[in-house]
Amino acid sequence: VLPVFALLALALSGCSNSKVEMNVLDPHGSAGEKQLDLINWSFILMLAVFAVVTTIYIYVLIRYRKRKGIDRMPEQVHGNTVLEIVWTVIPIILLAILAVPTVSTTFDLSEKPKTKDAIRVVVTGHQYWWEFEYPDLGIKTAQELHIPVGRKVDLEIHGKDVLHSFWVPSLQGKTDVVPGRVNHMTLDADKPGVYQGKCAELCGAGHALMDFKVIASNDADFNKWVAEMKAPPAPVTTASEKKGEQLFQQNCMGCHAGINPNVQGPDLNKFGTRTTIAGVLPHDEQHLKQWLHNPQAVKPGALMPKINYLQPDEIQALTDYLMSRK
Ligand code: CUA
Repeated sequence: VLPVFALLALALSGCSNSKVEMNVLDPHGSAGEKQLDLINWSFILMLAVFAVVTTIYIYVLIRYRKRKGIDRMPEQVHGNTVLEIVWTVIPIILLAILAVPTVSTTFDLSEKPKTKDAIRVVVTGHQYWWEFEYPDLGIKTAQELHIPVGRKVDLEIHGKDVLHSFWVPSLQGKTDVVPGRVNHMTLDADKPGVYQGKCAELCGAGHALMDFKVIASNDADFNKWVAEMKAPPAPVTTASEKKGEQLFQQNCMGCHAGINPNVQGPDLNKFGTRTTIAGVLPHDEQHLKQWLHNPQAVKPGALMPKINYLQPDEIQALTDYLMSRK
């Protein structure tokens, strides 16, 4: 058994990534800490139940084992009212002890933040990407949720197509994303860093790759990011970028500038500032070309069409233009 467990432990160690935080048991925000308290509390309770049950079990095994020389049938018992009441009442009490903190934490976490400096973000889950809109700041972006450290973030969670679930393991538990319904979640981060986000509800072929990042930075860096996002788009300078702009208008604008509300892709206005492509690929030219050539090979089920009909120089121009969007 030991080698099997050792191998499993080895596999689990692959989950650790020093740069991107993704560990429920090592939370970096007040919501995550409250949830870890609940996990610990229920774990201790379960451990106590396990210890009592195991002790009784082992005692009975030894005390009433078959002994040499004794062949008679032991006394057969049918029903014991006191025992049955006891083993019904104890679980009820245990469940109540678990339920009270669970329910109060659940309501606590879905409450809107009371602090005035809270940041409001409208999150929308799409197959298979995340949209982040800051209504008070006039910013719309995708795949990367920027938040200031130590401030409450009030998330208003919408669904566009099917059920998804918004989950940042190091910061907060899962919140369902339901079309036609608005769910709330408050989160905060206690130190700067990059926290991995996941879709935690099977939503189609691209579910496993419906990733996003929460980038928590100190106030100065966050304000810098806000200013960068609100600044007018960078001027289109080189000939290649100009050509790329034209190609973008002809091939991409229908979905990526929000003209068509039903076929809406991520806002690419500040694409050059992102750290990932489609939430999963490293943010560089080579991977952007890979994505454009065959998006479904990267993310199965993605609605983005293949842009494999353009000439290599046109792809280069489009790439140059997109990367210059800062
Ligand atoms: Cu969205 Cu799974």
